[in-house]
Amino acid sequence: MYKFNNVLILFGAISLAYSVNIYADDYRQITIKSGDFNLGKKASKEEIAGWHIEISHGHNLPPGEGTAADGEELFDEQCANCHGSFGEGVGRNPVLAGGEGTLKDSLKPERTVGSYWPYASTLLDYTHRAMPFNSAQSLSWDETWSLSAYVLYLNDIIEDEEFVFNAQSYHEIKMPNEDGFIRDQRPDTNNKRCMKNCKDPKSINVKTALLGYGSGAEDVVEETAVVKGHELGQKIYDATCRLCHGNGLAGAPKIEDSLTWETRLKQGIAKVHNHAINGFTGQYGVMPAKGGKADLTDDEVKAAVDFMLKDIEH
Ligand code: HEC
Ligand code: HEC
Repeated sequence: MYKFNNVLILFGAISLAYSVNIYADDYRQITIKSGDFNLGKKASKEEIAGWHIEISHGHNLPPGEGTAADGEELFDEQCANCHGSFGEGVGRNPVLAGGEGTLKDSLKPERTVGSYWPYASTLLDYTHRAMPFNSAQSLSWDETWSLSAYVLYLNDIIEDEEFVFNAQSYHEIKMPNEDGFIRDQRPDTNNKRCMKNCKDPKSINVKTALLGYGSGAEDVVEETAVVKGHELGQKIYDATCRLCHGNGLAGAPKIEDSLTWETRLKQGIAKVHNHAINGFTGQYGVMPAKGGKADLTDDEVKAAVDFMLKDIEH
């Protein structure tokens, strides 16, 4: 009953603020105005506060305060066993410090709170909500401010260990990667809805779409022949080639090792086909003609090769 009450209260809050749009099967839009259901009651400020736990950059910063010096002690007690005394990470637990500047210019980017996170508010929110991993939500806000100050200190973002970190001083902190994000302007979908002379849906082969080839209906129809080829290729691959190319047996390049295939394709697809059909001895081992199955036709072997290379540009 308790849960049910909450749902009603929440619904009351939503329907008060907006009117709810419901789309019926025939796409006619019905608008239901607040109060129409005669359910629930107006949520009180206190009830809303219980749900409204968002902390964001500059809004709803939590109460309390702390310094890196206080945080160091807490960190050693509660965090260092997983994240290391200097945030260097223990085992597979995340590294919390370092890596600044590696996102742009390094071949091995290191994403940490310091190098990657755009706002310190995330650190406060995440730490309070989710850490320590083994006893989440046990930290007070003072402890959270102190620990966050210490993590920022480990990243050289806070330099004075006595700096009092709180909602007032929050804006003195600028995270190094704050400007490293762009808004993604791409639309959710590129497909235009067809309004006239549209294809008969029955002519569209949905199965090929599920296999992941093509995005729009037109693509699906046009690619059906290619997909048929890949179906044949996959059959042959599974029966004959996977034995070696599935996991690199006898020096065979693994099917998912795209870098190797890109390099091999530099000699041209004709030569790669030819090697598979007639066999060859390379640097790594022997590729037997037709994978050792002499009764395959040349086209079948080619289909298997094309299947193996279907995700690699050539
Ligand atoms: C028992 C091990 C453990 C302890 C103790 C622990 N953490 Fe974590 N921490 C984790 C793991 C695991 C993750 C990654 C969780 C995930 O990605 O879902 C994590 C993630 C984090 C992250 C986010 C890192 C990132 O780049 O995504 C922060 C910040 C963090 N912990 C801070 C702390 C603080 C502060 C403490 C001490 C109060 C603490 N942790 C204690 C295991 C631990
Ligand atoms: C007995 C193991 C074995 C089987 C079975 C096998 N391969 Fe290979 N394949 C190899 C090895 C080893 C190489 C790498 C030779 C080298 O470069 O040293 C290779 C290389 C290739 C190459 C790369 C050719 C190039 O020019 O670099 C293709 C394509 C290929 N195999 C296709 C197939 C196909 C298709 C089948 C199934 C019909 C198949 N293989 C079955 C072992 C095998």
